[in-house]
Amino acid sequence: MTTYPKNAETRTFRVVGLPGDGIGPEVYASACRVLSLLEKTHGLAIQLDEQLIGGAAIDATGDPLPQATIDACERSDAALLGAVGGPKWDGNPADKRPELGLLRIRARFNLFCNLRPIVTHPALHSFSPIRPERLENVDLMIVRELTGGSYFGKKWRNDEEAEDVCRYTREEVERVTRAAALIAQQRDRRITLVDKANVLETSRLWRAVASRVIEEEFPDVQMDNMYVDAAAMHLLTRPADFDVMLTENLFGDILSDEASMLCGSLGLLPSASLNGDQFGLYEPVHGSAPDIAGQGKANPYAMLLSVAMMLRHSLGCNEEADTLEQAIHHCWNEGILTTDLRADGFTTSKVTDAVCNRLADTVPA
Ligand code: IPM
Ligand code: MN
Repeated sequence: MTTYPKNAETRTFRVVGLPGDGIGPEVYASACRVLSLLEKTHGLAIQLDEQLIGGAAIDATGDPLPQATIDACERSDAALLGAVGGPKWDGNPADKRPELGLLRIRARFNLFCNLRPIVTHPALHSFSPIRPERLENVDLMIVRELTGGSYFGKKWRNDEEAEDVCRYTREEVERVTRAAALIAQQRDRRITLVDKANVLETSRLWRAVASRVIEEEFPDVQMDNMYVDAAAMHLLTRPADFDVMLTENLFGDILSDEASMLCGSLGLLPSASLNGDQFGLYEPVHGSAPDIAGQGKANPYAMLLSVAMMLRHSLGCNEEADTLEQAIHHCWNEGILTTDLRADGFTTSKVTDAVCNRLADTVPA
């Protein structure tokens, strides 16, 4: 799904910045520092347009996704989001919850394809609860459907009962399967479709539709099926066997947090939410972590890796994306990590300093 923006030649881009809540603004600040350094060293021009979302938007405007934020996204190449949510808004009615801002932006921009790469790094093997020999060569891409299923189906509740409808259409399954197949073609050409087809009708539709798309349109891609309960187990026992894991919204949410433990911390996982056009939303997989907010403890790597995904998928700056990822891996090799990984870890700003220093040292000739 790599797309090339109209403005690739001038290398001038508009990015909506959405700091959000909790540690969101802290990791967002880290991303801003890296972006302004890349502007200096690599000749990009990134116009950051900062807007409200989530709890911060509810406090300021009463709306978790204000119209001004939507308008800004419409004028932009990409959006970079910190995190949304926190205990302050937990008692709010359903239409005034911070998470709704995120769900609405996904729906509004049709961001049906959520990429969550899970790549282990040898310098971090010892921080994972999983045995190191199982972590070797783990490089899997979770493709999570992001705008359907029980997240977006009809919902209601009274004191006695509640319902969340899980609904998928053929078209929704087709488009995300095609996206997953295009990604698989750039990799090992294998997709594991994760579902619960022994119980759920939606899963049976997924199997039928996805297999047909692969057979008819992507004969070079091989697809197998796995039940979600088994997939949850195999992720821990033989994670290196997966290439692309394709799954529906809720299963993908759960499996991606589980998979983060292979890498060592949820604070390391980036994501991209795409719609097949240029615009994408980039955000760490982790949440707003209210328990550590404001203490300078947030792990900025998930956000910085999300910046790399944005450079690659929405801005067409592949070289800069590679350079940023290499700077991050260099810092991992040097043990420059936050306290989620090591008790004597560094602060968010010290980690950001280290990444920036490394980037400044690798200016192109
Ligand atoms: C994620 C988050 C969101 C989700 C929440 C904040 C609504 O957990 O992006 O994984 O469930 O999709
Ligand atoms: Mn989640």
